Amino acid sequence: MGNHFLVTTAIPDPGLQLLSDAGQVTVLPEPPDYGTLSSLCASGDYDVVLTQLRDVIDEPLLAKARVKGVSNFAVGYNNIDIDAATRHGILVGNTPGVLTDATADIAMLLILGTARRVVEADKLVREGKFLGWEPEFMLGRDVSGAVLGLAGFGRIARAVARRALGFGMEVLFAPRPPSDRPVGGEELGEFAGKVRQAPWDELVERSDFLSLHVPLNEQTRHLVSADVLVRMKPEAILINTARGPVVDEAALVSALRNGIIAGAGLDVFEDEPPLSPGLAELPNTVLLPHVGSATVPVRAEMARLSALNAIAIAEDRLPPHPVSPLARA
Ligand code: GLV
Repeated sequence: MGNHFLVTTAIPDPGLQLLSDAGQVTVLPEPPDYGTLSSLCASGDYDVVLTQLRDVIDEPLLAKARVKGVSNFAVGYNNIDIDAATRHGILVGNTPGVLTDATADIAMLLILGTARRVVEADKLVREGKFLGWEPEFMLGRDVSGAVLGLAGFGRIARAVARRALGFGMEVLFAPRPPSDRPVGGEELGEFAGKVRQAPWDELVERSDFLSLHVPLNEQTRHLVSADVLVRMKPEAILINTARGPVVDEAALVSALRNGIIAGAGLDVFEDEPPLSPGLAELPNTVLLPHVGSATVPVRAEMARLSALNAIAIAEDRLPPHPVSPLARA
């Protein structure tokens, strides 16, 4: 019979090639809606489903699913109910590590782009409004010497810290906001003496740039709320390359409009792809279409890891990059 893989959206090489070498592959012609995906997973025709962030894999779907596993083409897995998958004996894999630097580059790009008003400046040039060098024209902010607050201190936050230190920023971090956990000397590693742990409240109040690097879960949903925004400095800039719902986007639009904070650089949105009303009209924002991991080599690596996870699960082995506790046991 051989293994049968369901791929909800075509992935780059070598992903599809690896899957085809290991079994039969069905790539859906267009992203499935929830009902379609649920029926396909329940059909018993597929061993493993290879999903994208937009595919919602929740308890009702998992309860009916007749698959051995779900391989998510992403490092984040907030689209999958991991506890339910574990309860139903369904393994889950993700693609950690390979997109760390690319995503940190996008965070740095948003820090620099908001500080130096790159979108406004580019637009102005294209509109023929660049009329010559002026002493007080298009003035932005210094990144060097500014305080960068990192919400989270995982792989991507650390890669941002590395870059920010190179730009002369003062780096603070809160490892698991809004709560805390001590990060000791060994865990700090190369950052010992270079970055400082701070309580979430201090991060909110002291950051010139507050950059989010937390997973989306019930603790972090609307971590940046209206209350948090009013406690930030009026000159502060919010950077989000993590997940949109970590920020209350309507509250952010209002804060940006009313000068509660100075700007925002966003690669993710609360209800993407649509944006909250008013966000796109604000000049003090840099808005990107969720491209943190979007480089040719990184997407190829994500394809490779997600295929290897899927193949391992189909062959009753542990996936090389498991998410669920079941796979870690
Ligand atoms: C992208 O957002 C990912 O989680 O890989």
